[in-house]
Amino acid sequence: MKKTIDTNNIPEHVAVIMDGNGRWAKKKLFNRIRGHQEGVKSIRSVVETARDLGIKVLSLYAFSKENWNRPKREVESLMKLLKKYLVNETPDMKKNNIEVRVIGAKEDFSDELRELFEKTNLETKDGAKMILNLCLSYSGRFDILNAVKTILRESNNNRIDPDEITEQFFSDHLYTRGVKDPDLLIRTSGEMRISNFLLWQLAYSEIYVTKTLWPDFRKDDFIEAILDYQTRERRYGLTSEQVQ
Ligand code: IPE
Ligand code: IPE
Ligand code: MG
Repeated sequence: MKKTIDTNNIPEHVAVIMDGNGRWAKKKLFNRIRGHQEGVKSIRSVVETARDLGIKVLSLYAFSKENWNRPKREVESLMKLLKKYLVNETPDMKKNNIEVRVIGAKEDFSDELRELFEKTNLETKDGAKMILNLCLSYSGRFDILNAVKTILRESNNNRIDPDEITEQFFSDHLYTRGVKDPDLLIRTSGEMRISNFLLWQLAYSEIYVTKTLWPDFRKDDFIEAILDYQTRERRYGLTSEQVQ
């Protein structure tokens, strides 16, 4: 029997490590760029499905701080693809009530791209149905260090009492401030690692790893991940009896 989605147990925030574009291309004897291009179609499919399911926040790991060290040609192609993606998709995001935010070290990008990030957010920011976090030049450790630096700067004038630094206070200084921590983390292409994604925020996320490569990961695969999530018991350190 085909399982159906429990609409009362939809994860509020889903984060995705979209991995495997290179391997997908290699398998088909294409160059890696073709894999990234095909991956954009998966992004489209997953964004649409997430929105339709009523997911409130979708965070996509699209480019890590470490990814800058890839061959120059690949990085340049990714930047072109990113520009094209933002220009092409913004009207649909607007129409579909999706707010697009870029999170990560935005200062690492060209002026042109930074302006485009700004413009995309301005044009979509009334979208109340879903927030799409595009994690770009993102690094979990950098996110945490950045929060520490911001807190220190704020404390320079009027000293902060160390007891004021609660988990909530710290979270409010991360790139993801204002949104709930991910309920579910999906990683495609089988790798069992976090690769410097949302280190602080993933503390209690459910993890789903699939061997499917990102360019092959579409609507049905996303629904499969949500169904798997719905079988989990989230205990947060308690016993099963306490949770039930
Ligand atoms: C993910 O696919 C996309 C980015 C990191 C930009 P990869 O390019 O890492 O694909 P694999 O891991 O080499 O297959
Ligand atoms: C993680 O994938 C980053 C993104 C999906 C953007 P990587 O391909 O960079 O991760 P590693 O190198 O396999 O850990
Ligand atoms: Mg990879």
